[in-house]
Amino acid sequence: MQETKPKNLPFFSELPAYFSRLESQKRVRSLDPPSGLDLCSNDYLGLSQNLKLQEALKEGIDLYGAGSTASRLVRGHRTVFEELESEFSNWVHSESSLFLANGYAANVGTISCVADPSYMIFCDRKNHASLMDGVRLSGGKKIYYRHCDMEHLEDLLKKYSGHANKMIVTESIFSMDGDASDLPALLSLKEKYGCLLYLDEAHSIGVFGEKGAGLSSAQVPSEISNIDFRMSSFGKALGLEGAMVSTSADARKYLLHSARTFVFSTAPMPAIAHAGLTSVQLVQEMNEERKKVLALAEHLRSSLQAIGKDTGNSSSQIVPILLGSEAHALDLADKLAGEGFQAKAIRPPTVDVSRIRVSINAKVEKNDLDRFIRIIQEN
Ligand SMILES: Cc1ncc(COP(=O)(O)O)c(C=O)c1O
Repeated sequence: MQETKPKNLPFFSELPAYFSRLESQKRVRSLDPPSGLDLCSNDYLGLSQNLKLQEALKEGIDLYGAGSTASRLVRGHRTVFEELESEFSNWVHSESSLFLANGYAANVGTISCVADPSYMIFCDRKNHASLMDGVRLSGGKKIYYRHCDMEHLEDLLKKYSGHANKMIVTESIFSMDGDASDLPALLSLKEKYGCLLYLDEAHSIGVFGEKGAGLSSAQVPSEISNIDFRMSSFGKALGLEGAMVSTSADARKYLLHSARTFVFSTAPMPAIAHAGLTSVQLVQEMNEERKKVLALAEHLRSSLQAIGKDTGNSSSQIVPILLGSEAHALDLADKLAGEGFQAKAIRPPTVDVSRIRVSINAKVEKNDLDRFIRIIQEN
C-alpha cells in the first residue's frame, strides 16, 4: 500500500522524540473547554456572554449570511464594515480606522507594510509576538529597549538619531505583566527624534480611558492624534473577534491597498462587523463594570502583596503572581483548577519569570477572589 504521509521526512520522523521531550517538561497542552471561575480569559467586561451582543450577531447572520466570500478588495466588502470603522473612529477619536480579521493580522499586516528595510524599529523588550512578527516581516532593523525604560529608549534614539526612518512599537497595557506604558514620555520622544509611534491597545481598549476608549484616551487625550497607529483588538473586552487599526485617512487608504493580511485574506464575516456596532455602543456605557474590574484587581494586588507575593508592576486588570519556579507555577495552577479556579501557569520562554497570570473580568466577585487569595497563601 502507498504511504499517504511522508513519514520518513525529517520533520515527521523527529516529532515523536520532540513530543517526548516536551512531555517530560510538561509542555504538551491539552485544549480544555472553559471550566471553573474564569480568571484567565480576556473577556474583561463579560461582553462575550452579553445577550444584546449575541442577538446582534444572530441578526447579522440573518442580514448578511455567513462568510464574506472574498477579500474586501474583491467581493468581501459590505458597507457595515465602513459603518463600524466610522463608529469606532468617533469613539476613539481617530480620523479613521480599518477593520481586520484579528489583532495578530492587524499588527503583522500594518507594521510590515508601513516599515521596510530602511527602518530602525525600537521595540519594548516585552512586546507581544504579533508585533515582533510584523517587525521581522518588515525587514527593518529591530532594536530592543528595556521594558518600559524610557531612558534606555532615549539613549538608543540618540545613538541612531541620524537615521531617517524610525518607528517605536509598544503595547499600552502589557499582556503578561499588566503594567502600563508611559504614553506622554513616548509621545515626547517620538516628537523629539522624529519617529512613527505604533501602539497596541489590545488589553486597554474597553477597560481604560473615557468611555473605555483605551489608555491613550486616559493618558494623552489632547495628543491622541499624534499616535500614528493604534491597534485595538475586538477579541478581548469587546467580546467578539477582529481588530481596528486607527490612523489617518491617508494611512488607512494605504493599508487597505497594501497590508498583506488585509489584501490577501477573506474579509471577516459581515455579521461580526454588525455585532461590532453593538459592542462599541455597549462598551461605552460600561463604566460600572470598568470600575469594578479595576477595583477588584487593586484588591487582589494589595492582598497578594500583604502575604508576600510579587505582582510586579501591574496596574491593570492583569495581575501576574510571580513565582520562583516553573514547577511551582504548574503545581499552583493545578491546585487552583482543583478548587474551581481557571488561572493559568505562564512560563519561559513566553515570559521571563514563571507566573500565574490572573485576569479579572466583571463577572468575578470579591468573595471569589478572597477564596482564591487564601489558596495562594496556603500554597
Ligand atoms: C498585546 C496583544 N496584541 C495583539 C494580540 C492579538 O490579538 P487577537 O487575539 O485579536 O489576534 C494579543 C492577543 O493575545 C495581545 O495580547
